[in-house]
Amino acid sequence: MAKKNKKYDICVVGAGHVGLIAAVGFAKLGHKVICADNDKKKIEQLRRGKPVFYEPELQDLLKKVKGKNNLRFSNSLADAAKRSEVIFIAVGTPPLADGSADLASIESVARTIADNLNSYKLIVGKSTVPVQTGQKIKEVINRYKKNSVPFDIASNPEFLREGKAIYDFFHPDRIVLGVESKRAEKVLRDIYRDIKTKVIVTDIAAAEIIKHASNSFLATKISFVNAVARVCDKAGADIKSVAAAMGLDKRIGKSFLNAGVGFGGFCFPKDVEAFIYIAKRLGYEFDFLKEVRNVNIKQPGYFVEKIKEHLWILKNKKIAVLGLSFKPDTDDMRFSPAISIVNNLVKEGASLTLYDPQGIDEAKKVLKKSTKIKFAKDSYQAAKNCDCLCVLTEWEEFKKINLKKIKSNMNYPLLADGRNIFDKNKVTKLGFSYLGIGR
Ligand code: UGA
Repeated sequence: MAKKNKKYDICVVGAGHVGLIAAVGFAKLGHKVICADNDKKKIEQLRRGKPVFYEPELQDLLKKVKGKNNLRFSNSLADAAKRSEVIFIAVGTPPLADGSADLASIESVARTIADNLNSYKLIVGKSTVPVQTGQKIKEVINRYKKNSVPFDIASNPEFLREGKAIYDFFHPDRIVLGVESKRAEKVLRDIYRDIKTKVIVTDIAAAEIIKHASNSFLATKISFVNAVARVCDKAGADIKSVAAAMGLDKRIGKSFLNAGVGFGGFCFPKDVEAFIYIAKRLGYEFDFLKEVRNVNIKQPGYFVEKIKEHLWILKNKKIAVLGLSFKPDTDDMRFSPAISIVNNLVKEGASLTLYDPQGIDEAKKVLKKSTKIKFAKDSYQAAKNCDCLCVLTEWEEFKKINLKKIKSNMNYPLLADGRNIFDKNKVTKLGFSYLGIGR
């Protein structure tokens, strides 16, 4: 008989985009998981089987693992920690004003673990953190623990993408285990045993850097292609063909070469910033990465300038905006370039009608109330009588939109394609004036 894989009692601290997916994922792998979060409302909602953010497949999987009693939710980290052998820390590390990551929640979790160290525990950092955070967690636990119970620290960065999170959890390109002991390595290998991929074992510092460096490198690819797009705009070349040909070189690779209004979300902008900050603190001025950030910051304004150049005066122009989330298949508005473009257009005096397939509720929370902003129930309603149709997130439904129908209701047929999703020749033939990025 085949030997069954060992299953663990796991606590995941934090029910956000990383923690909740990991908790559901570990439960699906057969482990007994408690997901702990101090937000009572969140926990209540999750207990009722309702995800606290939109993510494809999440609701179904949540139902399945709860049904098998593999996952429960708790407000008490102390209790969850006592009951678990492995604790994954997946709490938020939001940016502070100086760009550094706010690690106060991590420290507080480490203290609670120290207070509740009733048996051997492996404490694993899953949040994206600056290098040396693992060491700090170890120091905190050693400082506050009340007995000599042994524990291990590890780092297991998460590489999943919002919108594809469940798929990515079960099909990662690699699993990185930053460990200090054979025991920790064995536990983590056991936990992930059923996921078939390369497992990279490093020290803790390397694992922490792998995460920051990977996100920063992906951000670099995007800013690089956006910078080349600026040259294309000046030269009258099309960035789409330039990027497609570049991407065929295996050493470059074709992913993350889509020019657009820039990268957003709660990962790239803050991780680039935090990497610059920690490098400086360690004695290295990461000027290269500062330029990656600068290119990105300018991208939404550049797009608004292009629209303005075409329409001349934006005051009282009616603009339809399709797509508000920072990317498709999520309702996440954090650092969304679309939100900064909307704010920019409102400042210019334009009247906006906004539509997003999943994100309207979230958008209402982050946008200031204004008589200049209305929301529509679909793309067609948004586009009615507008002088410009502005597409800012590449949701599948926008790619399939009936442009003929849209155009017939527009006041003036300007299509501002902030994600380069439309075929320029086709839309021009339909009678649109077309503005893209770098084409
Ligand atoms: C990113 C990484 O891709 C994940 O591997 C990582 O785990 C995650 O951050 C994290 O650190 O938690 P995510 O923020 O969900 O994932 O989104 P991405 O799909 O990477 O996109 C980020 C931004 O870049 C989006 O605004 C997207 O529109 C933009 N982007 C992406 C481009 O402008 N061009 C591209 O070619 C690709």
